[in-house]
Amino acid sequence: MTQAPVENVDPAAVAALPKAELHLHIEGTLEPELILALAARNGITLPFPTLEALREQYEFTDLQSFLNLYYANMAVLITEADFTDMTGAYLARAKESGVRHAEIMFDPQAHVARGVELSTAVNGIAAALATSEADFGITTGLIAAFLRDESEESALAVLEQLLAMNAPIIGIGLDSAEVGNPPSKFIRLFKRAAQAGLRLVAHAGEEGPPSYIEDALDLLGVERIDHGIRAVEDKYLVKRLVAEQVPLTVCPLSNVRLRTVDTLAAHPLPQMITAGLNVCVNSDDPAYFGGYVGANFAALVAEFEWDSATVELLAANSIRSSFASDERKQQLLGELAAWSAAQD
Ligand code: HPA
Ligand code: ZN
Repeated sequence: MTQAPVENVDPAAVAALPKAELHLHIEGTLEPELILALAARNGITLPFPTLEALREQYEFTDLQSFLNLYYANMAVLITEADFTDMTGAYLARAKESGVRHAEIMFDPQAHVARGVELSTAVNGIAAALATSEADFGITTGLIAAFLRDESEESALAVLEQLLAMNAPIIGIGLDSAEVGNPPSKFIRLFKRAAQAGLRLVAHAGEEGPPSYIEDALDLLGVERIDHGIRAVEDKYLVKRLVAEQVPLTVCPLSNVRLRTVDTLAAHPLPQMITAGLNVCVNSDDPAYFGGYVGANFAALVAEFEWDSATVELLAANSIRSSFASDERKQQLLGELAAWSAAQD
């Protein structure tokens, strides 16, 4: 799949490539224009009240520098309609990127901490997801991501609330500041979620060491690793991840913008594909990192001169690694086969 490119795949074809997006923070899809519109609607004065002033803040030096702006901008999300509008805007953009199935994370603790009711966030997002298939042809799943720089008690309390209100979530994740907040901090949380029948994912190996990836698998029992790029530093771990075909939801433009890698050219994704790792391409926080999943694919194809077989492999991995029904996976793999046949 990674032999010398026969012919680079055309950017329009990459946008039409049927794919699943598995690593997406819905709050990271708040575009600057929508931030200002929601601030006006809710009578909120932002520290950066114009597009120019706001856009100047989008230069990041690491994960924390991004998280500071990401959490600050959430201040504009007050009503259910705000959450619905944000989610609808993402789905429209995702459709343009060829996304046919999306598993969407949200940060419940970040909203509760601001005094927004959990039900406001959940119901607002869920309202847009309820019509995503009819409106955009996209099937979806919602994942509650817990903040690893907060306590396990706080996470457990919010998880219990989500379960008590029968929130339409398919799983839980673990995000926010990674270094110093290892998976071992959240063993009880993941145990409780597993017991409740939820699917399990966690960010690991974005800024944190390869041992966090191992611990997310062994201590938390996660089924997928979000990011996982630092796995390449440990050849034994790579061997294991290949043998177990653990899905790694890689986010190339995010890694460049958060300076986890120096440049896209230096990104380990080609090496990960060659090693036989189960990798897929995702946008993470597209409003902050320079584009949606289609833009991630376009940048990769331009940088690495990939042929259609390579992008097809990445799309197939995304579909197979999703929590969609077997029937939906077969349907999307069929669409992918049709896309492939049209490339010849
Ligand atoms: N990493 C960790 N936490 C996050 C991210 C990310 O890229 N985006 C939103 N929360
Ligand atoms: Zn992420």
